[in-house]
Amino acid sequence: MPHREQRSLSRRRLLQLTGATTLGAFAGCAGQLPDTGNDGGREVTPRSTVTDEPDTSVSLTAASGTIRPSPETSTANWTYNEQFPGPELRVQEGDVLSVELTNDLREETTIHWHGIPVPNPVDGVPNVTQDPIASGETFTYTFRAEPAGTYFYHSHVGLQLDRGLLGPLIVEEPNPHVEYDREYVVVVDDYLPGEPRLPSDGGMGGGGGMGGGGGMMGDVRPPYEGHLINGRLPDDPQTFDVTEGQRVRFRFVNASSATVFGVRIAGHEMTVTHADGQPVEPVDADSFVFGAGERYDAVVEATNPGKWFVQADALDGNEPPARAVVEYGSAGDSGTPQPPSSSSNRLQYGDLRAVSALDGVSGRPDRTFDLTLSRGRDEYVWTIDGQAYPDADPLQIRPGEHVRIRMTNQSPVVHPMHLHGHFFQVGNAIKDTVIVPGHRGQVTLDFHADNPGRWLFHCHNLYHLDAGMARVIKYVE
Ligand code: C2O
Ligand code: CU
Repeated sequence: MPHREQRSLSRRRLLQLTGATTLGAFAGCAGQLPDTGNDGGREVTPRSTVTDEPDTSVSLTAASGTIRPSPETSTANWTYNEQFPGPELRVQEGDVLSVELTNDLREETTIHWHGIPVPNPVDGVPNVTQDPIASGETFTYTFRAEPAGTYFYHSHVGLQLDRGLLGPLIVEEPNPHVEYDREYVVVVDDYLPGEPRLPSDGGMGGGGGMGGGGGMMGDVRPPYEGHLINGRLPDDPQTFDVTEGQRVRFRFVNASSATVFGVRIAGHEMTVTHADGQPVEPVDADSFVFGAGERYDAVVEATNPGKWFVQADALDGNEPPARAVVEYGSAGDSGTPQPPSSSSNRLQYGDLRAVSALDGVSGRPDRTFDLTLSRGRDEYVWTIDGQAYPDADPLQIRPGEHVRIRMTNQSPVVHPMHLHGHFFQVGNAIKDTVIVPGHRGQVTLDFHADNPGRWLFHCHNLYHLDAGMARVIKYVE
C-alpha cells in the first residue's frame, strides 16, 4: 500500500520557532497563497450572530444518563435532556433558533449544528470558534435556521458524539418541491455501550491496536454491539405507521461515529428528494449508501400493504443491521415484517442533481487545494497532507473566492469529509459531507467563500477526526 511520506512535523515546529506563521509558501502546496507572502494576512471578521428575538427557544442539558435501546438492555450513556437521540428540534426556515446548553457533564462540551451555515461564533468547534463550555456552565447558541433541510446537532468535543450526544434538527421548507402526506425522521447510529476510546488509548477491543500488522489492511472498529434506528436496537424496532395510498417522507440521518450504512425499505422503491437537506431532482432508487454526517430524504408511496423492515446495514462492520418497521394500518398484528431483498438500483452521487445551483462556483476556481488523505505509518494517526490536526496548517482563503478542494484517499478505508459553514458542489449535487472512497479514491468539491471565520474541514469518522484528520479553513484579507 502506498504511503505518502509523513510531512515532517519538526519543520512545522521550526517554522513556529522562527516566527514564520504563514505556512502555505513552505508547505509544498504551491499556489495556495500566491499573494500573502510570509506575513499571513489578517483574518476576516466573521458574520455577527443574530440579535433578533428568537422564534424558538430551547434548553438542552447535557448529562450522563441511562438509555434503553431494547427492553432488556440499559446502558450508561450521555444524553441531552435525558433523551437518546436528543430531542428533535424543529423550526421553520428563517426562524431564529436559540438553544441554551447547560453542561452537567464532568467534562467540557459544545454543540455543532451540522450542515447549517451559521455565523462562525456559534459553530461549536472547541478552541476554534469558542472556548469549550466548562462543566456546570451554560452557553447560548442563537442563529437563523436556514436554509431548510434535514440536519442534526452533536457535541464537537472529543469522542462525545459516540457517547450519545446527538439529536435531529429539522428546518421545514415553506414550499417543499415534492408532495407528501406525512413524514418520519430516521436517525441511524452505531451502538457503543461504554466509553469510546481511541485504539491508541486501548480502545476498540482485542484487535491489538493500529500499530500491529493486523491493522494495516483496514481500520480498527470500535466494539459496536449493533446499530440503532432512533435509539432502538432491532429487537425493539420503532414502527412507522402508514396508510395505503399515502406518500411518506423519510428523513434519514447518519448520526453514527464510524459507520457507512446501506439503507433499504423492503417492498418499496424510494424517491430520493434531498441530499444533505438540499433539494434534488427526485430520483428513484431501491437503496442508498451514506457515511457519518450525511443525510438523505426519500419519499415512499405506500402501495404495498403489509409489514416491512426499514433496514440499515453496516458496510464496514459485521454487526447486525439497524431496523425499524413500516406498518400499514390494515396489516393487523399478525405476521413478521419482511426483510428487504438485495439492491439492484443503488443511488450513486452521479444521480443527484441539485434543484438550484450553488452561487459563486461556476468557471475556474480562484484557489485549489490538493489534499491527500492518509493514515500514519506506525501510530493511530490520520492525516491530511501528512499533518495531524491540531498540529496542522490552516488552509487560507479569501472572501468571495471560488475554492476547490481535490482529495485523494491513499488509505484503504472511506472518509466521509465534512465542511463546516458552507455547502459545496460535488458533481451536480449540493452537499456538506461527501464520501471519499478508499484505495486512491478521488473527490473534488467546490464552494463559495461567503461565510468568513475559521471552519473545520474534517473526516466525520469520529475516530479519524480525533486522531488528526482535520484542518481549519481560515479567511484572511
Ligand atoms: Cu458533524 Cu465537525 O461535524
Ligand atoms: Cu476518515
